[in-house]
Amino acid sequence: MTNYDAGDVLTVHGGAPLNGELRVRGAKNLVSKAMVAAVLGETPSTLFDVPAIRDVEVVTGLLELHGVTVTRGPLDGELHFDTSDVESANVDEINVHAGSSRIPILFCGPLLHRLGHAFIPDLGGCNIGGRPIDFHIQALREFGAVVEKSEKGMDITAPNGLHGAKLQLPYPSVGATEQILLTAVRAEGVTELRNAAVEPEIIDLICVLQKMGAIIKVHTDRVIEIQGVPRLTGYTHRPIPDRIEAASWGAAALATRGDVFVRGARQADMMTFLNLFTSVGGAFEIDDTPGVGGIRFWHPGGELNAVAMETDVHPGFMTDWQQPMVVALTQARGLSIVHETVYERRLGYTAALNQMGATIQTYRECLGGTPCRFGRRNFMHSAVIAGPSKLHAADLVIPDLRAGFSHLIAALAAEGTSRVYGVKLIQRGYEDFEGKLNGLGAHVELG
Ligand code: EPU
Repeated sequence: MTNYDAGDVLTVHGGAPLNGELRVRGAKNLVSKAMVAAVLGETPSTLFDVPAIRDVEVVTGLLELHGVTVTRGPLDGELHFDTSDVESANVDEINVHAGSSRIPILFCGPLLHRLGHAFIPDLGGCNIGGRPIDFHIQALREFGAVVEKSEKGMDITAPNGLHGAKLQLPYPSVGATEQILLTAVRAEGVTELRNAAVEPEIIDLICVLQKMGAIIKVHTDRVIEIQGVPRLTGYTHRPIPDRIEAASWGAAALATRGDVFVRGARQADMMTFLNLFTSVGGAFEIDDTPGVGGIRFWHPGGELNAVAMETDVHPGFMTDWQQPMVVALTQARGLSIVHETVYERRLGYTAALNQMGATIQTYRECLGGTPCRFGRRNFMHSAVIAGPSKLHAADLVIPDLRAGFSHLIAALAAEGTSRVYGVKLIQRGYEDFEGKLNGLGAHVELG
């Protein structure tokens, strides 16, 4: 483990419950998209409650490369975007960002509308499956874009402009739905999208676009209709809270037998998580006081219950909630079953939990009834967890963002001192997690 600098290694003295409170801010998976949407506006935009995370830095860098001026406002987390001088970026400079985020692909529509062409570098993001972009490319072509592979990425042009299209996604992909929204809002004519993703972050992006002047109708059964308009203005927006971060801390409270109040967490976006949390034997309480409310999550004592769970698109159990919850399930009595249906390779992190004393067996078969694209395709996408297991400390290497946070929870729940390598990956999506851990009484130090 010699390749990590001191700021990338967290020493965790585990075995103590997490107790206290913290605050979650705007959802990473909305904030980054709202920042891209600002490019579509001919006047400046303002976003509040933006968390200080690495993904926001990456999108800020990409915006600046395209001539957008990003400035901080007087309030903590307030960002302004001046888009009056949107311009093409240098291909090599964009490529510096390749490997660090999947957001660049969402710039296609906005850049095509503003400049007539876009360049997309080869994409990065978490290594949790193949993560293809075929739905994106297919949709862009249906809008009239010409997509050509170049040496360093993809060149996209729209020689005859972009026009509305009738589209149907093979799977309700979050990113492809966002791509289509960001392109259709200013394409000529009407776009009808079937089998769209309807995650709360998508609905919040639609709210942002509506504020900008877009006309978007969300019908039942995953159908979204977008009527293109000739121009859009800027927006002022307060994003929905980060329900992935909120659930991660809830799971951490449960796994460590603790009690954590997550200020800012919102019940409506987390109902499926709260149902499972209750089934496992966790307790929660909602405080819906405007501005200061949140959700308190705690372990009420006694034993936790084993459960069967499946991840799915909204309104199902989020794939990003799966890893933190599995750590809590290692403490439940009996056999828990997990069927991951969103990403084909999102269970690799369980090997590290086994190294710490958990008993988790992964399977290629679908262990659940939710229709799934991975059965009989050789992907280890189901797991059985036998508990409760006493976790012990280990040296852990973080593989991706959400798995990384679950490694951290496991280290906090385990007896002894663990060293967690690669914690900078967690900074992609969790603001000041080290400060928050200290505030919850965890015994952690960098280095
Ligand atoms: N897919 C395709 N082709 C495509 C696009 C997607 O086959 O062109 C497949 C993917 O391979 C995957 C499934 O569709 O199996 C779902 O992928 P989706 O497009 O919905 O995911 P995404 O937009 O790349 C976002 C979040 C993820 C979150 C998923 C699902 C962002 C930046 N990322 O990814 O969040 O897990 O939706 O809710 O919004 C994270 O925050 O750590 C994270 C990975």
